[in-house]
Amino acid sequence: MRGKFITFEGADGSGKTTQIEKVKAYLENKGYECLLTREPGGSNLGNKIREILLHYDGKVDDLCELLLYMADRAQHVKTVIMPALEEGKIVLCDRYADSSVAYQGYARGLDIERIMKLNSIATDGLEPDLTVVFDIKTETAIQRVGNEKDRLEQEGIDFHRKLCKGYLELAKKFPQRIKTVDANLSVDEVYNQVKTLFENLGL
Ligand code: TYD
Repeated sequence: MRGKFITFEGADGSGKTTQIEKVKAYLENKGYECLLTREPGGSNLGNKIREILLHYDGKVDDLCELLLYMADRAQHVKTVIMPALEEGKIVLCDRYADSSVAYQGYARGLDIERIMKLNSIATDGLEPDLTVVFDIKTETAIQRVGNEKDRLEQEGIDFHRKLCKGYLELAKKFPQRIKTVDANLSVDEVYNQVKTLFENLGL
């Protein structure tokens, strides 16, 4: 039987990485085989693309940046995600197609319809069974990123606000697939909300 594909989305500092680890432990405890992966960088080639995306020190054109995320995604879907789903695994993915819509579209201002079309090409139409969006107030995120503050501040507070608003709009557009959790609460309180979503999926 085909496995399940679950993606996790949210602004930097939303605490999603902590929650993904907890969910993985919960599922494995129940006997499910899981694959934890991420974008950018979930495949070997993708890790090289990730290096460029996060550390290239020259100017990267917005469209070039978008297409690098898409190239990473195409390789990831074909060589990592699809094979794992075919083996019946639960694939937990830290960021996926919605990140491109939220970051490059809502926050950076590229055309959203065009990004969605590119996503559908890059993913060959593979959509998650569930997407969990961690909704966090910009102020709380800034406190949380602490010494990583520079990264968030590099993009600016306004960028962060647009991003969060973008995720909420996506959740409104695709209410069946995208569920939001209030990420301003404590780790345990956020986890309880996430666990309920998994229980609703029958996991
Ligand atoms: P990462 O260090 O993995 O951040 P996080 O732990 O917050 O996921 O860096 C990934 C960065 O790439 C993050 O700032 C979001 C950004 N990104 C995009 O802008 N577009 C995309 O399509 C994806 C997948 C990520």
